Amino acid sequence: MSNADFFQRAYSENGPKVISGFSRPVYHNLMGVLYGHQFDKMGFGGMIRHTEAGMLYEWASEVIQGGTIVEIGCYGGLSTSYLVKGTESRDVRICSIDPFNSDLDTQAERTDGCVELEDKPTKELVAQRMAKLGAGDRVTLIEGFSQEAVKDWKDEIDFLWIDGNHDQAYLDFTDWSPYLKVGGRIGFHDSHPRYGYPQVAEDVKKALESSEHWGQLEHVKSIISAIKLA
Ligand SMILES: C[S@@+](CC[C@H](N)C(=O)[O-])C[C@H]1O[C@@H](n2cnc3c(N)ncnc32)[C@H](O)[C@@H]1O
Repeated sequence: MSNADFFQRAYSENGPKVISGFSRPVYHNLMGVLYGHQFDKMGFGGMIRHTEAGMLYEWASEVIQGGTIVEIGCYGGLSTSYLVKGTESRDVRICSIDPFNSDLDTQAERTDGCVELEDKPTKELVAQRMAKLGAGDRVTLIEGFSQEAVKDWKDEIDFLWIDGNHDQAYLDFTDWSPYLKVGGRIGFHDSHPRYGYPQVAEDVKKALESSEHWGQLEHVKSIISAIKLA
């Protein structure tokens, strides 16, 4: 199936929820049941569903020893915690970027309205949560905007997880995907028109339209994920 066909089916009203592979919805649900309930979603103020959390855990577990995961949009660290769990006891570095509660004027100017700017989780709070998981030394929290952070970025990425400003998913893609290794995974949250944001869905369709460059497309609730082919 071409990537264009994938999106047509994934985004259709009555289309199957998941396209890639035999019984993938069953597999996604199983991962959700097994691994997607490890953290208190409400307590974290988190925004991922249990099935999505289970698959984040699963995808993180596929990252090789010495690999790097980049997360854009950390908020209170719920998704970050699943990335940590999926890579537990392995030397995998996780860099998570979010302005947290800094520079609120710029955040107000650029906001997509998704999160309240008052009372945003602080970098210190998320750092404490990571330390409690025993991952304080593996997780680097970058306090700032992805567009600025990329200017200092140099390393190859094994798994790029995009869940930042919903008006800027395509910009995050063009800024960061050049650092993704061939064979590495990209995942976009909120990228389904029914389960996420129509703007993100459009951006992701545009980003991953080339079947030459992106394969193994997968749809998990509001997530679209793919493997970089070239
Ligand atoms: C939907 S929340 C992330 C939720 C988190 N991934 C989770 O599952 O718990 C989006 C976060 O991205 C942050 N954000 C917005 N623009 C950003 C940018 N340019 N770079 C990094 N983070 C950004 C927001 O402030 C917010 O904290």
